[in-house]
Amino acid sequence: MSRERIERSGCLSVRNGRLFVEDIAASDIVERFGSPLFVLSEAQLRSNFRRYRDALQRGWPDGPVDILPAFKANLSLAARRVLSEEGAGADVYSPGELAGVLRTGVDPERVSVNGGGKEFEHLRCCVEAGVRITVEDIDEVDLIEQAAAKLGKTARIRLRVKPPVPGLWKPTDFARSFIPIDLGFQVYKSGLPLDNVVDVGRRALAHPHVELVGLHLHAGRHSASLWYWEGLMRHYAGLIADLCQAWNGWRPQEIDVGGGMAAPRDPHSRMLERGDFLGSVVGYPLLAGLRLLGEKTYHATLSRLLGALLHEHPTRPIAPSIEDYAATITSTLRRELGARGISLSGVRLQAEPGRGLYGDAGLHLTRVKVVKRQRQPVPLNWVLTDTTEFFMMCGTLEANRYDVIAVDMVDAPATLQAEVVGHSCGPDRLAPSQHLPEVEPADVLALLDTGAYQDASASNFNAIPRPATVLVCGANAEIVKTAETVDDVFARDVIPERLATSPHASGPDDSDAAEPQRAAS
Ligand SMILES: Cc1ncc(COP(=O)(O)O)c(C=O)c1O
Repeated sequence: MSRERIERSGCLSVRNGRLFVEDIAASDIVERFGSPLFVLSEAQLRSNFRRYRDALQRGWPDGPVDILPAFKANLSLAARRVLSEEGAGADVYSPGELAGVLRTGVDPERVSVNGGGKEFEHLRCCVEAGVRITVEDIDEVDLIEQAAAKLGKTARIRLRVKPPVPGLWKPTDFARSFIPIDLGFQVYKSGLPLDNVVDVGRRALAHPHVELVGLHLHAGRHSASLWYWEGLMRHYAGLIADLCQAWNGWRPQEIDVGGGMAAPRDPHSRMLERGDFLGSVVGYPLLAGLRLLGEKTYHATLSRLLGALLHEHPTRPIAPSIEDYAATITSTLRRELGARGISLSGVRLQAEPGRGLYGDAGLHLTRVKVVKRQRQPVPLNWVLTDTTEFFMMCGTLEANRYDVIAVDMVDAPATLQAEVVGHSCGPDRLAPSQHLPEVEPADVLALLDTGAYQDASASNFNAIPRPATVLVCGANAEIVKTAETVDDVFARDVIPERLATSPHASGPDDSDAAEPQRAAS
């Protein structure tokens, strides 16, 4: 992989053939803290945050700009603390995320609480904390009014809308088949149905303890392209203007454009196998037919085709920069709203990057356990690591493919073509068909761009304890999330007393115990 691609994230550099995270060699981090490991760069987080803020502000002279990073993307409180120090707000979803983010010194006025099905107690906590509530259920405004009236406070709310986006005809990256973005977006459950927005807004405006301060849209990363963002913002502006008219000249104080901007190397959907249909209709009958030529010819042909069958994916070009996204968002909104006569003077612009902010601030380090070479009946190599895709489940769901680097052999020739796999019992294909140097057991590999959604979605499949997270700051590295133990994995298990007396059960032999027995020792 080219140095330019690696060093695209300012926190990564190559020094004497070794990958560095800020000022520490990646393999030294593993030497010190063990493997596998999630690593976050504080400098990259700060720099990404500042670039979003400054670029959006440059394009939005009309009013202030807030960056509300999506907390769900990375639940590390230390990383979140860094962002709060920078003045970041937050997009949060659940009562748990709200409680977590409020521990980090964030300004509640810059916290947006999203999500459908919010319960009364959650809404009450939101009003009490003074955060923005982003409404997406039809009756939510009435519950908020009740909660605010009880507390004698005014709740500041925004409506999450979902405009039709008929011009967005290209396929969404969220689907394995060819589904156009305009349909893919509508299938997504979030946001108030278009039919109800006007009515919900009217009710909100009539409630004495509710102030409707703005509108919110989050469509997600259907595409990394600026074309998509231009189209999305055009339709959003159209709906904003329509709502201003429907609500008798109401004007938003805040316009939130949500998240969905890609990180530079953008691992999202690189493993989408859109050729599946063609593969099934043409490829499978061909392969099945080949057997008629005998086993030798069959396997010889398979050996030749294997690279293509296992989906060798070309390196994806670098996604648009933070500055490009910001320029497209701001210029489209200003142009379209201006054309509809909506004054933007003093209007606050907000964005909620998750992957675009945390993604390339994180990497995952893992040691090679075994290199397995097979010659027959078809040649294949595997580099089996001490990690698993189950630590990066969001990545699996979103068909992520990460760039993989042998951290101490960055400049060595990539002569080994192998499947980089995890050590769970599943296929666990972390990075199929990789070109690597001749790695050996104990060598360290880095999977780049795992800062968003991966640690947050890790599970304990195969009873594998989840790894620690380390925060790097210059030449300093500290644990900010401890690694689990096997006891942690079973800590929530309870063996009822009636089952705990089995003669083969291990653990304390206390058959008189009145309490059910905890499974962890
Ligand atoms: C409301 C909201 N805002 C922001 C985000 C962040 O999206 P992304 O990580 O694609 O930038 C999400 C992610 O699901 C979201 O639901």
